[in-house]
Amino acid sequence: NEIRIFCPATIANLSCGFDVLGLCLDNVGDEMVIRKSDQKGIRITKLVGADLPLETEKNVAGVAGLALLDAVENDFGFDIEIYKNIKAGSGIGSSAASAAGAVFGINELLGRPFELKDLVQFAMQGEKLACGNAHADNVAPALLGGFTLVRSYNPLDIIKIESPEELYATVVHPQIELKTSDARSVLKQTVSLKSAIMQWGNVGGLIAGLYSKDYDLIGRSLHDEIVEPIRSVLIPGFDLIKQAALENGALGSGISGSGPSIFALSKGEKTANQIAKAMSKVYQEMNLPFEIHVSKVN
Ligand code: HSE
Repeated sequence: NEIRIFCPATIANLSCGFDVLGLCLDNVGDEMVIRKSDQKGIRITKLVGADLPLETEKNVAGVAGLALLDAVENDFGFDIEIYKNIKAGSGIGSSAASAAGAVFGINELLGRPFELKDLVQFAMQGEKLACGNAHADNVAPALLGGFTLVRSYNPLDIIKIESPEELYATVVHPQIELKTSDARSVLKQTVSLKSAIMQWGNVGGLIAGLYSKDYDLIGRSLHDEIVEPIRSVLIPGFDLIKQAALENGALGSGISGSGPSIFALSKGEKTANQIAKAMSKVYQEMNLPFEIHVSKVN
């Protein structure tokens, strides 16, 4: 009647896949304890590590959990304790971790009425509360692990993507907060056909590279023609960090989710650590506090 969950951080977009691609970082995340209760509904009974609302309707985990409960017949309710490690506005899926954790845990305690993929639609409601948009590119990899693709939003079609064994992610978080809603409001609503052609070429290339374990192709495809040029100006030292990553063996580098975190993908742990060192040096020289993580992708 009780479950303790690790709620992983995630990298959304992955350069060319705005709102559709994402991957799971399996050693960075929050914790959550969920208990079944005779009292119907959902209560956030404890929230440690962040200054976030406890009211169920204003809490990402609460809203996602309620969306799930609305879809099943049951006589129970749930009490949720949240222990946040992922900072809000960091770009590594803080709200997604809470939303995904809540629906995963509740589904387990209910005896799994839903498949993992079906939980995405509920977790998305938490994202909608957090930033005004029900994007699934963080909650899908948080729930399914590894790489995921949102092939379509309507109807929702989530695909788990295979990826090579030795793929690592390095993520650096300069300690500023960038709200996803703000980072979305600066985007243009239309793209040129020329940019779109480059972008879908790269999305296809990235997926093909992941399946065929072609690291070179993965690297060539990690390019964002549309969103990165607009958002990168909001991130201190973005160009220097990206350059440091590429000079130290990264396959590619870009904004993690809506930023300000910056990610790099690489082959092998050694290279990922070397990239972490080079990124750290950039922010140390800028006197900018930061956090850095190296994570295996699979
Ligand atoms: N795809 C979303 C965005 C991810 O870039 O706005 C937010 O984490």
